[in-house]
Amino acid sequence: MFIGTPLSSSATRVMLLGSGELGKEVIIAFQRLGVEVIAVDRYDDAPGHQVAHRAQTIDMTDGNVLARLIDSERPAIVVPEIEAIATETLVELEKAGLCQVIPSARAANLTMNREGIRRLAAEELKLPTSRYAFADSLPSLRAAVEGNDGIGFPCIIKPVMSSSGKGQSRVNGLNDLGTAWDYANAGGRVKKGRVIVEAVVDFDYEITLLTVRARNADAEVQTHFCAPIGHVQVNGDYVESWQPQAMSETALARAQEIAKAVTDNLGGVGLFGVECFVKGDQVWFSEVSPRPHDTGMVTMSSQKQSEFELHARAILGLPVDVTLRSPGASAVIYGGVDAVGVRFEGVDAALRIPGTDLRLFGKPESFKNRRMGVVLAEGVDTDQARQRAKAAAALVKPVAI
Ligand SMILES: Nc1ncnc2c1ncn2[C@@H]1O[C@H](COP(=O)(O)OP(=O)(O)OP(=O)(O)O)[C@@H](O)[C@H]1O
Ligand SMILES: [Mg+2]
Repeated sequence: MFIGTPLSSSATRVMLLGSGELGKEVIIAFQRLGVEVIAVDRYDDAPGHQVAHRAQTIDMTDGNVLARLIDSERPAIVVPEIEAIATETLVELEKAGLCQVIPSARAANLTMNREGIRRLAAEELKLPTSRYAFADSLPSLRAAVEGNDGIGFPCIIKPVMSSSGKGQSRVNGLNDLGTAWDYANAGGRVKKGRVIVEAVVDFDYEITLLTVRARNADAEVQTHFCAPIGHVQVNGDYVESWQPQAMSETALARAQEIAKAVTDNLGGVGLFGVECFVKGDQVWFSEVSPRPHDTGMVTMSSQKQSEFELHARAILGLPVDVTLRSPGASAVIYGGVDAVGVRFEGVDAALRIPGTDLRLFGKPESFKNRRMGVVLAEGVDTDQARQRAKAAAALVKPVAI
């Protein structure tokens, strides 16, 4: 294992596909280790573009365009940061030995579609999940929900290709199915009109179990678990997270077994965010990101090595340390306004709250519900950390100029 010199012929070259707030932190972690980074996104001046050696703006869902860029930049390693990528192209390039995809092209391909990962988890690995069905039309959706062995109500309808809660809605009765179907079709990434309908799991709390597959001194892949992260989601999007989430020993062991089974199957090296629902000692698998997770931003204040550093280290074949440093929390700062080039007021007041820190992502354009920044906080316990993070986030005000 070696690391070269950036911008020279020995460079260790990494390409990030997706350069949002999570990609930006992964890039910073790589930069600190002397890696040459090419940041790719679909719009100019994305957060990660601003901290990379080179910035590229392309349509990453166009396989030909993506293949041409990889061919011209020649990265040794390609790190998908988002789901909306022409993953079939990555499968081909990896097969041809042109680059290594993190954690693997197959993992990126399976997880970009809810159907791929759900069928793998529930049908192949036999892991507990919510009851589910797939539908391609309103009549087939109705048929999947109705009847004795149908999914029933309440249920959740999601486009098979979407993230951050886009196109997702909870349905309480037959009358609302049509609206949910239309909403899913408008919110999905691809206009394929396929949805998953899931029974609502009546959980006590939900967690993200960050799971790292990294090589040891003998170059064997080992699995490491971070302390569980608790979080609150509103309309399918995360607003607040904390670490550690208190869990029974049995539930934690079960969540780790689930995470191990899924990540063993997906393979490769890197960090994964395994989402589970928990009720008492019972645990259900929900979904997995083969990359850092938004709720895991809390680790920038709570762990010795953040999820971004862990990802970068695992990818490079370096040792990882998943130790918790302090109880911590994160709270999202939303745009609140639709405007270009907003000004953030109240940052000074926010940072006067003890134990707080923040990230402003530098997104060129603000939208009401766009995530523009995050407050991080540590505390004597997660209650204190959460209070601090929420209080500080409420003080930061994006203002249109
Ligand atoms: N079957 C379910 N039962 C109960 N709650 C659910 C179910 N499915 C989703 N949710 C709730 O909605 C949230 C978002 O769902 P999910 O993670 O599937 O969507 P997503 O669009 O992939 O979100 P993200 O990209 O932010 O992870 C979950 O974290 C959970 O709070
Ligand atoms: Mg999720």
